[in-house]
Amino acid sequence: MSWHPNLWHPTTQVATAPEPLLVRSARGCELELADGRRLIDAISSWWVTLHGHAEPAIAAAIARQALQLEQVIFANFSHQPAELLATRLSALTGLERLFFSDNGSTAVEVALKMAWQWWRNREAGTGATERRQLIAFDGAYHGDTVGAMALGERSLFTTAYEPLLFEVTHVGWPHTHWHDEGVEARERLALDQLEQALETPTAAVILEPLIQGASGMRLVRPAFLRAVQERVRASGALLIADEVMTGFGRTGALFASQRAAIQPDLMALSKGLTGGFLPMGVTMASERIYRGFISETPGHTFFHGHSFTANPLGCAAALASLDLLQADPPRYQDFESRHRPLLEQLSSNALVRRPRSLGTMAAFDLDIGPESYLNPVGKRLQQLCLEQGVYLRPLGNVVYLLPPLSISDAQLERCYGVLADVLPKLA
Ligand SMILES: Cc1ncc(COP(=O)(O)O)c(C=O)c1O
Repeated sequence: MSWHPNLWHPTTQVATAPEPLLVRSARGCELELADGRRLIDAISSWWVTLHGHAEPAIAAAIARQALQLEQVIFANFSHQPAELLATRLSALTGLERLFFSDNGSTAVEVALKMAWQWWRNREAGTGATERRQLIAFDGAYHGDTVGAMALGERSLFTTAYEPLLFEVTHVGWPHTHWHDEGVEARERLALDQLEQALETPTAAVILEPLIQGASGMRLVRPAFLRAVQERVRASGALLIADEVMTGFGRTGALFASQRAAIQPDLMALSKGLTGGFLPMGVTMASERIYRGFISETPGHTFFHGHSFTANPLGCAAALASLDLLQADPPRYQDFESRHRPLLEQLSSNALVRRPRSLGTMAAFDLDIGPESYLNPVGKRLQQLCLEQGVYLRPLGNVVYLLPPLSISDAQLERCYGVLADVLPKLA
């Protein structure tokens, strides 16, 4: 296998990266390579594969839908798969309105534009002080489109585009791990920062509830999020939950907001939405937000739409995925107890720092080299695990597992076994 002459891979530096592996097929938690090797996909292919690869019930639902209605423009038209999905997600999230887009970044951009324009529609010409500030958290990652990038922490990923990014106020994210004794002090500091920031008129505050993914699987305690919500509500700003990674059972509850007992005004969803079969994003909005756009004034319209809005195949996949999820809640609710003993055992290795777990995710930091995405130790670990049939993709020195729900006990134990075997080779 070599680099294809006509392809350009995401987030990949061709000058230094190993060539991509050619995949022939996938089933459950396993990828089968063209050369016959099998790999356990321990990160659900960038956190999208919710139940398992090629899940038959979802594949069948897509095939049925493709023979009936594959796509139709969603301005002027509606269709049953979209309506059924809206009804179900509205009941599950407590947010009445569903707006479709194409991926996680667009779901976030839509939430941001809705929040921004909701205030403009409401306050234009009233003499009220304009709410121009947006607040996000240190370490935030909300996607790679320009608006989503602006919301995220400035990093290696955003440096080249700095002049294009609008200003966002970032406040502390007091992330924690097992046996963390300093968390309360860090939480107080972060809440002080937030309170201070909220003194400036603020349109919206966005957060990844309970866990920041891309910046290194950084957990916060539910009580911190409730304290954040209390302050945001008191300021009148809108609260946006980016549940692109955390949605659909990933944190042990259907949505992380529910596990944290917060109720955002807007929620971005994608990744597991279609069970990981098709690219689709949705932004859930409260009825109050929706009503703020209904007006005789043309400029109050939400002028946003994508060609593939509400693609019926994506909707059919999402409905089939929800059926599977709701048929067996213990499968996601009890996942944490499967990780726990295995991670505890692995933590006896001196290189394992800050072990932590939440729902289907378990993570730790490697105590080698800098705490950075550029720390090469992650790439070495990735290579060594690959040689033993487990696909992981550490974020620099942060190693995590986030497997599909269908992973068997034996497969999960195999992942930890391979890690235990590989860690001493890194020292
Ligand atoms: C929390 C969060 N928001 C947004 C995104 C962007 O989603 P997408 O890659 O589908 O654009 C991601 C992707 O990892 C994410 O983890």
